[in-house]
Amino acid sequence: MSRILLIVGSVFGAAHAVADDVTSALEERNHSIQRNEDPQANDLEAGEFDWLLVVTSTTGVGELPDELVPLYNTLRDAPPRIAGLRYVVVVLGDSSYGDSFCGGGLALDEALADIGAQRIAEAFKVDAMEHSEPEAPVLEWLLELPEAQAQ
Ligand SMILES: Cc1cc2nc3c(=O)[nH]c(=O)nc-3n(C[C@H](O)[C@H](O)[C@H](O)COP(=O)(O)O)c2cc1C
Repeated sequence: MSRILLIVGSVFGAAHAVADDVTSALEERNHSIQRNEDPQANDLEAGEFDWLLVVTSTTGVGELPDELVPLYNTLRDAPPRIAGLRYVVVVLGDSSYGDSFCGGGLALDEALADIGAQRIAEAFKVDAMEHSEPEAPVLEWLLELPEAQAQ
């Protein structure tokens, strides 16, 4: 069993729906999920979990949903001590936005790596142009990760 901190950012609810399905699937494998939709940097420092899963959409022009902006700014401006934190980011986006495709989640992924957190896997991007329902591709990918296996 792993203890997983699940951070969610969404504007219109698609990322919440993904987070709901991810939570059910991981709990079925006996992992415990601590869901946080208003994360602060010290939630990452607390260390009461084995790995961090971020599920976020992209808004504006390659931006994060409002609830993840304070965390992102703190990671950049006053980084918490999280070297070695293991994490992976799932980003919902839309390739019709061109260069800003999935930009918000990718910026958060990079900010975590820049302060010494360890990627479990490359950020997983879901394109709304290809998938009207992002849950299926996310689950298919996530449940293959070694960290997601039942223990
Ligand atoms: C106002 C607006 C701006 C968006 N900007 C981007 C963007 O810059 N890059 C991108 O990849 N997707 C962008 N998207 C697409 C959303 O990220 C995508 O539809 C996502 O599935 C929405 O998830 P949510 O319901 O959790 O917010 C934008 C969508 C809206 C409505």
